[in-house]
Amino acid sequence: MALRHAEYAKQAYDRVAGDYDDLFTRHVTHVNARLDLGLELRPGQRVADLACGTGVGTVEMARAVAPGEVIGVDYSEGMLAAARERARDAGVHVGFRHARAEEFIAQAAPGSFDVVSMRFVLAYLDWRAVVPGMGRLLAPGGRVGLITSLSGSIPQFAELYRRFRKSPEPAWKLFQHTRRNLGQTWRIYRQLKDTYGEPTFISVPDSAEQLAERLLAGGGLRMVETWTDTVRIWFDSGREAVDWMHASGYVTHSSLQHIAPVVLEFVGSLFAEGLESYRQRRGIPLDLVIAAVVAEKPRH
Ligand SMILES: C[S@@+](CC[C@H](N)C(=O)[O-])C[C@H]1O[C@@H](n2cnc3c(N)ncnc32)[C@H](O)[C@@H]1O
Repeated sequence: MALRHAEYAKQAYDRVAGDYDDLFTRHVTHVNARLDLGLELRPGQRVADLACGTGVGTVEMARAVAPGEVIGVDYSEGMLAAARERARDAGVHVGFRHARAEEFIAQAAPGSFDVVSMRFVLAYLDWRAVVPGMGRLLAPGGRVGLITSLSGSIPQFAELYRRFRKSPEPAWKLFQHTRRNLGQTWRIYRQLKDTYGEPTFISVPDSAEQLAERLLAGGGLRMVETWTDTVRIWFDSGREAVDWMHASGYVTHSSLQHIAPVVLEFVGSLFAEGLESYRQRRGIPLDLVIAAVVAEKPRH
């Protein structure tokens, strides 16, 4: 049976959990630290880290607000297990909750937190609907912080996507891939075009300003800061870059379950080969374009 988007992402993160920190977290340490600075964490605060994953942000916040109260919420058991271990190793107390971030936001008492953060999650939920509700959780003087990748993230990949969309190159390569089987080529090509022909399958904000606007739409908050940053990750080959996108969880979309493994392999090779055209002396660069927003609930 087909899995809905949320269920698919949850299972994907259960799988990714063991490698996530090595493949992803270590590249964004300074981005997380910059958000923490903007949150102005202080001892004794109550903090909620929504979709906390392996707890990288959660544990740093717990250190900063000790002896405050910190809750990490995630719907992947695998990621939560890693987060519990991280908190234990760091010797900080965090209460972990296995739940959907949307439900947590809807059910938490108004004004029950001084800090609410959500990092690298917006692709997996209906962010336009969820983000405006976050301010309701804040006590006066409290801050909410968001980090997300933007729709223009990994421009190398986006550029290849635009190129492939317009050119006959993928159809021709597919034809060769199927050993010139016209019927099979046509079926696979149609399926890929129907699923990925329009870029709307990716749902993250276009800019920090657009995200800030949604956050403020809930009312009662004032903007503290917005910023964007680009994290460049180097790979030895286009193939390694494509494998990273999959193994790190970066490319996690429910549509992938409908694509046969042999077709995914074909698409992977197409992009791996395409990425080789970005090769520089150090290897193949992928640029993660990241935005952050911090807003505050005024005291009066
Ligand atoms: C890319 S990871 C980010 C984890 C962490 N915030 C970080 O910065 O490392 C995405 C996380 O969001 C979780 N997630 C996605 N959608 C969720 C939802 N609706 N409710 C709770 N957790 C969710 C996944 O299980 C995964 O742990």
